[in-house]
Amino acid sequence: RSATNSSPESHGTDLISKLPMRETPSEPQILYKNFWFRRIFLERIMLLEATFKARHDDIILATNPKCGTTWLKALSFAITNRSHYDSGNHPLLTRHPQEVIPTIDVEIPLNGDLNFIEKLPPPRILATHLPLSLLPESIRIQGCRIVYICRDPKDAFVSRWHFVSDFFGEKTDINVAFNMFCEGVVDYGPYWDHCLEYWRESVKSDRILFLKYEEMMLEPVKFVKVLASFLGAPFTGEEEDAGVPEELVRLCSFKTLSGVNSSQTEVVQRGSVVVKKSAYFRRGKVGDWVNHISEEMARKLDDIVQEKLKGSGLVF
Ligand code: A3P
Repeated sequence: RSATNSSPESHGTDLISKLPMRETPSEPQILYKNFWFRRIFLERIMLLEATFKARHDDIILATNPKCGTTWLKALSFAITNRSHYDSGNHPLLTRHPQEVIPTIDVEIPLNGDLNFIEKLPPPRILATHLPLSLLPESIRIQGCRIVYICRDPKDAFVSRWHFVSDFFGEKTDINVAFNMFCEGVVDYGPYWDHCLEYWRESVKSDRILFLKYEEMMLEPVKFVKVLASFLGAPFTGEEEDAGVPEELVRLCSFKTLSGVNSSQTEVVQRGSVVVKKSAYFRRGKVGDWVNHISEEMARKLDDIVQEKLKGSGLVF
């Protein structure tokens, strides 16, 4: 195929077939610039690389899958739109957080049409699971602000293992899935490299706000204020006196959002995949790994992660 008649999509497809690949009990994983993806994600990521143009006021919510994306989307939407709604008629009571903020690398259609984000009012809030090194170049050039949230890898693994069963219908044995996770060969993995890239950049630059799920669960009001300031929408003294931060924390809590998204039949469209709304709200607990993996597995993963993060200042 000549360079002139090759679309971004066909270019990506040609390139993908030349990349290193690992068979897994589910879909093969493909290594692209040091991170692993299944084909359905990689095609879209390449398309995004070729077509996405960031605007300077775009805000990027970056997460490794299952680390709190849904929560972060809900909070960011509620914070930045708080002047438009009160808690009685809030869109989050009828629309899923995944529907109010798009995850660009998952939802970009295969024809490359970016209309789904072009029409968003500024500042656009866009989510992604991409590692920092794979973000479209224009995000760096434009100096966009980035919020990153990470989570204890053991809980992230357990959450992911449950979710792929809803998302892809995959029922991989947990021990097998765990070994793949420990090898780093999972979508958007290795997990630790994903965290480290954002962590290191956040130490150098105040354009990245680095959050941890566990810390946010402990002190949600504190972090909702930090997030609001970072998003350029700090709470006024009057709002704080009126308990607005607490109200937004309640609106976006696991309890509220899992309650309004409990239907087993209603779905959200995620790219080419349709997922039950309730799948994004499983337990919402810190330390639920203890109910799913053994102490020995936990130690193994902790050791791997500790070794990988050594000297970085990042700890889980
Ligand atoms: P569990 O599977 O451990 O319950 P993501 O949104 O990145 O896909 O992550 C999903 C994880 O976040 C799930 O974890 C889910 O239950 C939890 N979660 C979803 N909404 C939440 C909320 N409002 N507050 C806290 N945790 C939430």
